[in-house]
Amino acid sequence: MLEVRNIAAGYGPVRVLRGLSLTVRPGEITCLLGRNGAGKTTAMKAIMGLLPLSGGQVLLDGEDIGRLPAHEVPRRGIGYIPQGRRLFADLTVAQNLEIGMRCRKSPPEVRDRVLAMFPRLADRMGQRAGTLSGGEQQMLATARALCLAPRVLLLDEPTEGLQPSMIALIRDTVLRLRDEGVAILLVEQRLDAVLATADRAVILETGAVRAEADAARLRTDPDLLRRHLGV
Ligand SMILES: Nc1ncnc2c1ncn2[C@@H]1O[C@H](COP(=O)(O)OP(=O)(O)OP(=O)(O)O)[C@@H](O)[C@H]1O
Ligand SMILES: [Mg+2]
Repeated sequence: MLEVRNIAAGYGPVRVLRGLSLTVRPGEITCLLGRNGAGKTTAMKAIMGLLPLSGGQVLLDGEDIGRLPAHEVPRRGIGYIPQGRRLFADLTVAQNLEIGMRCRKSPPEVRDRVLAMFPRLADRMGQRAGTLSGGEQQMLATARALCLAPRVLLLDEPTEGLQPSMIALIRDTVLRLRDEGVAILLVEQRLDAVLATADRAVILETGAVRAEADAARLRTDPDLLRRHLGV
């Protein structure tokens, strides 16, 4: 279980996260929502150790990982699919996956399984990542994170700009991981997707939680998200 407790972080003098707390449980999808600039991506970067915390804690199964160097965080089993993908463009598909595999010394079966989920990547192992199509790059970013065999997975708008069949593929993959017990934190703008997949929704506003709801509440009050987001 991932517990973010009262964290503060920002960029130089600019404070973005102001006492953010949230919990991501195994076998659950927690959707993080909020307007543009609310701090969703910043929250993920802070969890991954890519931004220093100026307060608060990030606990993974009770261990405070909030001050670890950034390269240690994925080694603990937290996979991250950043907004806009961020692959190693000059490396091949195979080399990008290898980075994920080495991080936690995953056994080869992990890669076999990931490639079975994304057979298009298996056909392009020697192709440079930068020359993949947008949808293929999103598959590779997802596949690379899955090569960690993660306990916790952070996905920052994984379906942005994708065609419906790719959105369905990513969604099915996320649901399957959830059912296997992975703890998932998903930034998602499309409210229909949130209502369809979330076990819990957390709405961020100016760097802190404005509202939270579980799946039962979301189903009985489907307009709740819209009201809180003001859309
Ligand atoms: N590197 C940076 N330097 C300075 N300010 C930044 C930096 N990155 C983000 N910010 C600012 O921090 C605030 C939060 O940005 P963040 O990217 O976390 O928002 P977000 O909720 O992910 O938005 P979106 O829905 O548009 O992706 C914004 O005001 C943004 O301009
Ligand atoms: Mg963002």
